[in-house]
Amino acid sequence: MSSLDKAFTVENNFAKGNSNYLKSMFGTTEVMPLWIADMDFEIAEPIQEALQKLVTRNIYAYEFNTEDVFKAISDWIIKRHQLKLNPKSFVQVSGVLTGIGVLIRELSEKGDGIMVQTPVYHQFFKAIESAGRKVVSNSLKVVDGHYQMDFEDIERKLKTLNIKAILLCNPHNPVGRVWTKEELQKLVNLANEYNVAIISDEIHSDIVYSKSQFNSIASLDNSENHIAIIGSPAKTFGMQSISNGYLYIPKETTHKQVKNTIESLYLDHGSILSANATIAAYTKGEEWLDDLLVYLENTMHWIEDFVKNELPEVTLHKPEGTYQVWLDFSKLNLSDATLNHLIIQQAKLALTPGDWFEKSHTQFMRMNIASPLSKIQQAFYQLKKAVNEGVDCSFSKNANTNDCCSC
Ligand SMILES: Cc1ncc(COP(=O)(O)O)c(C=O)c1O
Repeated sequence: MSSLDKAFTVENNFAKGNSNYLKSMFGTTEVMPLWIADMDFEIAEPIQEALQKLVTRNIYAYEFNTEDVFKAISDWIIKRHQLKLNPKSFVQVSGVLTGIGVLIRELSEKGDGIMVQTPVYHQFFKAIESAGRKVVSNSLKVVDGHYQMDFEDIERKLKTLNIKAILLCNPHNPVGRVWTKEELQKLVNLANEYNVAIISDEIHSDIVYSKSQFNSIASLDNSENHIAIIGSPAKTFGMQSISNGYLYIPKETTHKQVKNTIESLYLDHGSILSANATIAAYTKGEEWLDDLLVYLENTMHWIEDFVKNELPEVTLHKPEGTYQVWLDFSKLNLSDATLNHLIIQQAKLALTPGDWFEKSHTQFMRMNIASPLSKIQQAFYQLKKAVNEGVDCSFSKNANTNDCCSC
């Protein structure tokens, strides 16, 4: 038994299982929460030890150690991704979304377009629209069951619309693609041709399964003029509530401009809690992460077999990276309301609704699998039972649908 099999016992007020959130989003608290993208696992011991040391202090004067943090990050990226970055090109912010918000404002004007590849992490829409910019959607294509970028659509839109930046998600949340070097180089070449910046959100870059390889935008040819990488140890090490975000901006003038703005808003004053946890994670957390990746991949294999053999009505888009699985329920042929009833009320699962990521994706749901395998297995057993039983008669009658299969 792995330590990752251990059930989660800590008394907590985390968002994932919070009754107010569950009630407002799913209408009930009687659901297994597998929605928000964080982990049910205990953090790595070296991070716990670093935090314990801080807790036993009795003095908390001002303390800034971002240089040490940047060194820990760049050493980690050399080790894990074989990429040498210049620690001087980093900028610290209070979170990845904060970084995205600042970059959108620095790289474009009100009314300009920012391209995203949909379905995509829903907060991207808010980050763009709340800054007064326009979301330009470049839908991903599904070719032989595999999500791909639609380069023709990208080029047509870059040519004809007033687009100032592409907000890339790599690895992609929610579809789980880890973009290949060839795909990314094509994107960089197009961005260069049309003088558009790429803002590459690489927060999921360490959660990549054995058949794929992560390539940072900064590793590509001719990427130095336009690109900022954004990341943090939040997803990798389960530090969502104590993590800062890190931008990497190789172009000196852009680095200076963005840094000035961030400093003028005091967004670079990270907490020492986050800094020390980040250093511990990146310098001593590798073994824990390797175990986690094996564990998650094993869970993925179990899910793949289960869906193939027991739930053929559901289409699984197996992720190359991230701890999310993207499930397509359209083969069940249910209305959107009936599908929601089946998943929430009958299977008793709180999954992230697909239409958060693109309005048309009402028949999709994202499941977070970063939990002990027994919990994920239980979720799939509940799903199978609900699908086999069919929709409740009482629901069908009240909703006046033709979706009833159990009466
Ligand atoms: C792609 C992506 N970017 C950013 C975030 C959030 O980052 P932060 O909490 O550092 O703002 C998430 C969280 O799910 C995410 O999936």
